[in-house]
Amino acid sequence: MRRIYFDNNATTPLLPDVLEAIQPYLLGSFGNASSIHQQGQQARAAVEQAREQVAALLGARTSEIVFTSGGTEGDNLALFGLVRPGDHVISSAIEHHAVLNSCKRLEEMGTAVTYVGCGADGVVRPEEVRAALRPETKLISVMMANNETGALQPVEELGEIARAADVYFHADAVQAAGKVEIDVEQIGCDLLTIAAHKMHGPQGVGALFVRRATLLRSQLVGGRHERGRRAGTENLPGIVGFGKAAELAAEWLAEGGAGGGPERMRGLRDRLELGVLAEVAGARVNSFAAKRVPNTSNIVFDGIEGEGFVIAMDLRGISVSTGSACSSGAIEPSHVLTAMGLSGEDARSSIRFSLGKQNTAEEVEQVLATVPEVVRKLRELSPVWAGKQ
Ligand SMILES: Cc1ncc(COP(=O)(O)O)c(C=O)c1O
Repeated sequence: MRRIYFDNNATTPLLPDVLEAIQPYLLGSFGNASSIHQQGQQARAAVEQAREQVAALLGARTSEIVFTSGGTEGDNLALFGLVRPGDHVISSAIEHHAVLNSCKRLEEMGTAVTYVGCGADGVVRPEEVRAALRPETKLISVMMANNETGALQPVEELGEIARAADVYFHADAVQAAGKVEIDVEQIGCDLLTIAAHKMHGPQGVGALFVRRATLLRSQLVGGRHERGRRAGTENLPGIVGFGKAAELAAEWLAEGGAGGGPERMRGLRDRLELGVLAEVAGARVNSFAAKRVPNTSNIVFDGIEGEGFVIAMDLRGISVSTGSACSSGAIEPSHVLTAMGLSGEDARSSIRFSLGKQNTAEEVEQVLATVPEVVRKLRELSPVWAGKQ
């Protein structure tokens, strides 16, 4: 059975060109980028080329790119590197746990944090952020695209608010990178996190954009790597693959105008979404009213339980996901969907379909042919659904 992978917000497959770019750096060209001999110089040149490729994707200077081990480290470095006890931080209730739990840790360390909510569309309201500003506010940290719903957040307006208040602005752009254009100047952010594995690069590598002259305290203590902002020998093959993935992402984004790239992906996503809504009664799209990244569709199916749906689809060769997380044996409804006002029941009945560049129209049709049957079977077994009929 050829599997269909519609869980690209969890991670994406490597593109063949990325694999090809990485391979030499796993074997012959294995040097440490800090060594002064030839192998070291080759490694340094490869890391710096990748830095240029990543900087170009974000409209940043190469000196403003710090390589990390991924999105979580970038978010941690931004928050812990900047904020001190006594400061105030504004974040949102719909952030990824890499930011939310970092904020909780900051609170334990004596930082005050305000978590603004969002509208029913899953979008943070800039007025709420402005109203939360205090004289001691140091940082606003709000994501660019939500990982569960795909809803794009008003980062440019938040950048303006931050600049006017002389406050730092960090955007977690892990789910935006490679899906929509990112220009750090246009956003006006001081810090921005991305991760390679969400854009067809390897897992375990990412980058934090750090605007020039931003004083950031390194969290890993050691050598003077990454201009003293992140100690540790660079992940050479990972960084090379990340650079290639960034270059390919920039080319792909430019195809949008010609109906390829993101426009093609949006077409596939919309076909999937509208097809599901047409075929399945009692289905609604979360964040339908919001501007979204082109690959994500999060759908509530009344009367089903998300985990059961994921397992049933898995048995049919299709990978999708729920937003809910299993903690201490209980299925917790997604904090994002509940912040949008969904009931626990609706949040537990929500499924995330997320597409990647490798997905095809045929795969969308196959998923469309499978979803109604799976929903019908699960509803037949559901006491909740029986009660609703
Ligand atoms: C919005 C967002 N931020 C941060 C992360 C963490 O990234 P990583 O898995 O590379 O640590 C993720 C991963 O899903 C994410 O979706």
